[in-house]
Amino acid sequence: MTSNIDTHQPLANDPTWWRQAAVYQIYPRSFADANDDGIGDLRGIISRVPYLQGLGIDAVWLSPFYPSALADGGYDVADYRDVDPRIGTLDEFDEMVAALHAAGIRVIVDIVPNHSSDEHVWFQEALAAGPGSPERARYIFRDGLGADGSEPPADWDSMFGGLAWTRVPDGQWYLHLFAKEQPDFNWDNEEVRADFRKTLRFWSDRGVDGFRIDVAHALTKELGDSLPTQAEIDAITEPGAHPLWDRDEVHEIYADWRKVFDEYTPPRIAVAEAWVSTPRRPRYASADGLGQAFNFDLLEADFDAEQFRTIISDNLALSAASGSSTTWVFSNHDVVRHATRYALPARNGSTTKQGRDWLLSGGTEPAADVALGLRRARAATLLMLGLPGSAYLYQGEELGLPEVADIPAAERQDPAFFRNPGVDVGRDGCRVPLPWTREGKSFGFGEGGAHLPQPATFGELSVEAQDGAPGSTLELYRAALALRHELQTDETLEWVPGRADVLHFTRPNGWHVVTNFGPDAVPLPDGEVLLASEPLPGGLLPGSTTAWVRAAV
Ligand code: GLC
Ligand code: CA
Repeated sequence: MTSNIDTHQPLANDPTWWRQAAVYQIYPRSFADANDDGIGDLRGIISRVPYLQGLGIDAVWLSPFYPSALADGGYDVADYRDVDPRIGTLDEFDEMVAALHAAGIRVIVDIVPNHSSDEHVWFQEALAAGPGSPERARYIFRDGLGADGSEPPADWDSMFGGLAWTRVPDGQWYLHLFAKEQPDFNWDNEEVRADFRKTLRFWSDRGVDGFRIDVAHALTKELGDSLPTQAEIDAITEPGAHPLWDRDEVHEIYADWRKVFDEYTPPRIAVAEAWVSTPRRPRYASADGLGQAFNFDLLEADFDAEQFRTIISDNLALSAASGSSTTWVFSNHDVVRHATRYALPARNGSTTKQGRDWLLSGGTEPAADVALGLRRARAATLLMLGLPGSAYLYQGEELGLPEVADIPAAERQDPAFFRNPGVDVGRDGCRVPLPWTREGKSFGFGEGGAHLPQPATFGELSVEAQDGAPGSTLELYRAALALRHELQTDETLEWVPGRADVLHFTRPNGWHVVTNFGPDAVPLPDGEVLLASEPLPGGLLPGSTTAWVRAAV
């Protein structure tokens, strides 16, 4: 299969390659399983390099593939400089990087610096060494409150529900902002800092092109002797004043990492996962820091012209100010897939987690309009791929996969489900293994079955079913990504005024992108229609459809 790889376009030594790249996120355990044990692996990725090349992406980002007990889908890392034996070996990693590079695809790996796994050798040493030891000083241990120390040091909630402190047998407590198997590192500790520099060099030396930084806004914390309560923390609104999140000191770490990135040619890149307010984002994206930051604004928006317009304008202004390029995301491994989000009623600014109630109902309430959701998702993606900046895609969205809502409790894996009974069903529904073929055990994911159950509808959404099928979502992504390479131009756009429910912008080279968010068909600008997310009856742009037009000259 690898013989299909086109090696005629070697990667140029271009330090700006990331600015408008299309990056495809692979969740390795659910992508392709080459040795039929039910778990996706590096050999599986290697076998699909021709598929990735044919898709037309510029880079892949791999979610964690490191040794892990999988308390949080691999975001609980036991060893930052190795590959989980269930996923592969370091030699296979090198082979994968070489195959992707030969296909013109760069490689970004996930770095999880806020916390390790409780199986990490340092945490095991910390437990063994006892209170006050240098081993314990790599994490955040505290004595408990109350006469016998049996009360937690603070009443803080973990991100996945439940308490953020867990007691160890000798009576001390450790902090974990996420699951209890994810102890937070103490970033005031120079050993921790040195170890992450070592990790960044380890992967950079192996040819990795960049890093996605997990919860980049956590790391440094302001923990005095007496800790505030959750209520006191919640009352803090002043930017930068929160003791746990988005502290200014975190940028010292990223300035230090920037020196490591710049040791390489071209410099390694990084993108921050930082759930911070929009005005706080540019610092994560600054050129003397990580260089780029995710903008999750579109991911949280309804399919709505006004919301999209504001978000796009604001983020282009922000990136102009930071000097970075902006990023766009509709789906990833943490959220309900966008084909399903757009099948549900609009959120209208609600802060409840997207799709929460629908997931809790097992995907029945409210009824999802599957066809409309997919139609809108295709329109939204075609709009995104016409925007300046980089586009982050999540495996399976090119097939229009829906969120899987009916996973039985016994098969769920996400700690958000276990730690938050009845409140959160977690993120397993977007992590279901990909369907490659119409038939067969696990639809071609592997002969060993899928580690999360696939619905019967996955067969008709498989790569095999969509490959070469006119109008399929896969062919739409392929066409759009190929054209985007030809059309990509300066990082600006100009809005063309018009109806409130239509967004129309032009790029400097006469590339028009028009999305109709409303129900009624509308006329298209003059020129050649290059691509559309749906057929255009009568030459008009129907509702929930995007078209790319090259202006007549
Ligand atoms: C990030 C990851 C998410 C993980 C969490 C803790 O938000 O994207 O999957 O659970 O960090 O590492
Ligand atoms: Ca496997």
